Amino acid sequence: MSPIRMQVKVGRGLVLRNPVLTASGTFGYGLEFEPFCDLAALGGIVVKGISPRPRAGNPPPRLVETPCGMLNAIGLQNVGVERFRTEKLPLLREHGATVVVNVYGHEVADYVAVVRALEEETGIAAFELNLSCPNVKEGGLEIGRSPRAIREVTAAVREVTSRPLWVKLTPAVTDIVETAEAAVSGGADALSLINTFPGMVVDVETRRPVLHRGTGGLSGPAIRPLAVALVHRVARAVDVPVIGIGGITSVRDVVEFLLVGATAVQVGTANFHDPALAARLVRELDAWCEARGVADVRELVGALEENR
Ligand SMILES: Cc1cc2nc3c(=O)[nH]c(=O)nc-3n(C[C@H](O)[C@H](O)[C@H](O)COP(=O)(O)O)c2cc1C
Repeated sequence: MSPIRMQVKVGRGLVLRNPVLTASGTFGYGLEFEPFCDLAALGGIVVKGISPRPRAGNPPPRLVETPCGMLNAIGLQNVGVERFRTEKLPLLREHGATVVVNVYGHEVADYVAVVRALEEETGIAAFELNLSCPNVKEGGLEIGRSPRAIREVTAAVREVTSRPLWVKLTPAVTDIVETAEAAVSGGADALSLINTFPGMVVDVETRRPVLHRGTGGLSGPAIRPLAVALVHRVARAVDVPVIGIGGITSVRDVVEFLLVGATAVQVGTANFHDPALAARLVRELDAWCEARGVADVRELVGALEENR
């Protein structure tokens, strides 16, 4: 047993066994990664965005590699809330995973419907509202860009759940503090940031966009410094926990997010090339702390020394 205290609190008294989670859409429903990774060893698994009905997503090509990153336009393919409830959740419970359900909808009623359908289930630690997906024509990003709409969706979901409610923000706004404050005023217990940046790749021979949908969301190491700066800003502006996401591939990246004020982090794109990474980062964070005399991982949160 390591002597390092790794637990963190992320809203409404929810205690995670450590601050390393996996990010929505990059770890399936968790079950796909079970052969590579002890799901119960992670701080949590944020499952693929769940909508009221199943979605097939966008036509291919839906993924393209970019320098230090990846562009995706999956279009929120998922099994829908009913199959998630009856097929996926019972297995996740058996594995002892800490499950965060990422919720997606086109309008307020969709978010409410998904959360309502799952509220009575056991084995869900928190809901995370995806108000930020750039890959569907309507809904997500429009909601995610409007402080008024963010407040409205968050407040409507707050009414129907007693669980911790996390709101995931898009970086594609002029002032992320405005959208962060809107989520908190609507009742968010924690904020997850960031989702992907809108991007585009063009095939110069065909003169067409590579992705069928034209544009997609940029993720991976290319966005990490952008994400770190946004987490740093938001963590100083709000008094709820912030969960840092964007381009994490190493334990140094995890610590970087904690230092600028994230209470926990989510590992995304990196899971695709190393499905065992998230579980290894938990062990490496423990070792990193031990080697530096950090007895409690919470000592790192917001411990950045600002330059004067
Ligand atoms: C293929 C793919 C699918 C994604 N699907 C979702 C999703 O369903 N809901 C969501 O909130 N974010 C989704 N995201 C965004 C990630 O959770 C994460 O916020 C983003 O990729 C930045 O982290 P990263 O650079 O570590 O990947 C997806 C990202 C990728 C690459």
